[in-house]
Amino acid sequence: MRVAGVDLALIADGGVVAACERACPHEQADLACGRVVGGRLACPRHDASFSLVDGTISDGWPSRPLRLYPVRAERGEVFINAASLKSVR
Ligand code: FES
Repeated sequence: MRVAGVDLALIADGGVVAACERACPHEQADLACGRVVGGRLACPRHDASFSLVDGTISDGWPSRPLRLYPVRAERGEVFINAASLKSVR
C-alpha cells in the first residue's frame, strides 16, 4: 500500500497490526512478501528478521532497524497517521 507517497507493508500478527516500510533496509526486498513468526517479520530474500515492536534486526546483520509507523485498527478499518511518514519521503 502507498500512504502519503510512502510504500508500506501492513502486517497482521494475531490480534496485532503493524505498519512498516515496504523495502527491506538490507537490500530492499519486498517485505510484503515476507512471513511473520513470533512477532518478527522475516525478509523473503535473505531471511533477516525484524521486531514488529521496535524494528530491531536479527543478530549479525549490518543494516539499520526497520521503520515502523503508528497504526490503529478499528472495526475492520486501519488508520495510519500520514504525518508520521513525512520524515521518510
Ligand atoms: S534483502 Fe532483506 S535481509 Fe537481505
